[in-house]
Amino acid sequence: MDTIVVRNLVKTYGAFKAVDNVSFSVKQGEIFALLGPNGAGKTTTIKIMTTLIPQTSGICIINGHDVRKEPRVVKRDIGWIASEVILDDDLQVIENLKLQADLQGVSDWYATAMRLLEYFGIKNTVKMRAGNLSTGMRKKVEITMALLGDPSVIFMDEPTLGLDVGTRSMLWDLIKKTRDEHKVTIFLTTHYMDEADQLCDRIAIISKGKIVTIGTPEKLRSKAGGGVVVLTVTGEFSMSSIRSLSYKRQGNEIKIHLRKSKDSFVSVLKKIDLFQVSALRLEKPSLDTAFIKLTGSTMAEQEEDHPIDYRKFYRQLQRARQ
Ligand SMILES: Nc1ncnc2c1ncn2[C@@H]1O[C@H](COP(=O)(O)OP(=O)(O)OP(=O)(O)O)[C@@H](O)[C@H]1O
Ligand SMILES: [Mg+2]
Repeated sequence: MDTIVVRNLVKTYGAFKAVDNVSFSVKQGEIFALLGPNGAGKTTTIKIMTTLIPQTSGICIINGHDVRKEPRVVKRDIGWIASEVILDDDLQVIENLKLQADLQGVSDWYATAMRLLEYFGIKNTVKMRAGNLSTGMRKKVEITMALLGDPSVIFMDEPTLGLDVGTRSMLWDLIKKTRDEHKVTIFLTTHYMDEADQLCDRIAIISKGKIVTIGTPEKLRSKAGGGVVVLTVTGEFSMSSIRSLSYKRQGNEIKIHLRKSKDSFVSVLKKIDLFQVSALRLEKPSLDTAFIKLTGSTMAEQEEDHPIDYRKFYRQLQRARQ
């Protein structure tokens, strides 16, 4: 059975469609990402899925329960990590955890909390004020909070927004470990291509409220084409040998685009005169290229069309100043 089933989900604000007929399913134990630029509709979708806002139409089923018809059951069954600050800085870590347990109606939370804090290597922070935690520690406490009620799905809205490279990869490991250890399904949103690529089993690309494609990172990359063979050649290189291929030459560098199903790396190598090649590399197609192919513009270009979310910017600034 699929843990998450979303069918024809629509959310309108006046005449504007923030979520436009979105459908997808997520299997038990999958790490699934909704990837898209600012304003694509990621937070709106995740808020509907976590019962925080009602959809205009369409259905969303979490673990067999309809979010509109059984919001309480759904809430008890999920963990939620918002992109904005969710810890109370004035409370100790343990007080934050107790508050969350009370909110979710989890009574035997203490032993679970201690086991998780130990597992994440931050048991020594129990008495610390949340305001004094480093960003990495905060994230670990937030994941602990999300796991307290033994959820079947954890939702994360842009879990690594504003984190440095080291903390981001630490968090990716932690999310994978959490999935493996607790057998939970993880649904997250991101606008980082590398995050979706390295962390997720499957990705749904969303653009302007619509799902453009869904698949494994490999499958999406393959939509971008077969990659590029980059050659650095000497002056005597015979261009006629590559006449039948799709290439661009700039000075001593030649980029040969592998056309899907027509060319392979090996078939290209067989054609070229390697004696006149001083360097050679294969560039694999990237998710960025796939995004451009599928939507007609880059993520950055789509974000330019969209006003900056100053609230989010301000929150990040506040966090950075702490
Ligand atoms: N309450 C609201 N009223 C009107 N418009 C809204 C409301 N909430 C969201 N929107 C609009 O819906 C669209 C999608 O917003 P959403 O927050 O879902 O995007 P997002 O993909 O999460 O973007 P980001 O990457 O910036 O977080 C945006 O154009 C946004 O301005
Ligand atoms: Mg968002």
